[in-house]
Amino acid sequence: MGLGSDMYRQQILDHYKNPRNYGELEDPDFTHVGENPSCGDTIRMDVDLDDDGETVEAVRFTGDGCAISMASASMLSERLHGMPVEELDALDTDDVTEMLGVDISPMRVKCAVLGRQVAQDGAKIHRGELDPDEDRTVTEE
Ligand code: FES
Repeated sequence: MGLGSDMYRQQILDHYKNPRNYGELEDPDFTHVGENPSCGDTIRMDVDLDDDGETVEAVRFTGDGCAISMASASMLSERLHGMPVEELDALDTDDVTEMLGVDISPMRVKCAVLGRQVAQDGAKIHRGELDPDEDRTVTEE
């Protein structure tokens, strides 16, 4: 473990203790709640899109989860601002673990990707591509 990894650990702790964009939007274009089935922790993501519906304008999240899940959602919320929805759709597990900057054990991957999955599923439901009753959060790993 070098200094670089310590820095990332500090960053994760900081996002966990001081989550960015924590809260709710008043009238979001879409909102979605998803659960990590392995622990039952949930994250809610509220997303506002710009007028053409193609770019993320604002994000707020709330949730109750471990440091990895909360830090990951917090970092993601910062990254999502101004991101084309197409890019959000394409975010994969590697993008999330790269953002976190530390090795994530297979057991914790579901924690790390929870926020991303909730945002992606929310966008799909908004476009009518996913049945909101279909619970597929974090099932891909
Ligand atoms: Fe529940 Fe990590 S232990 S999200």
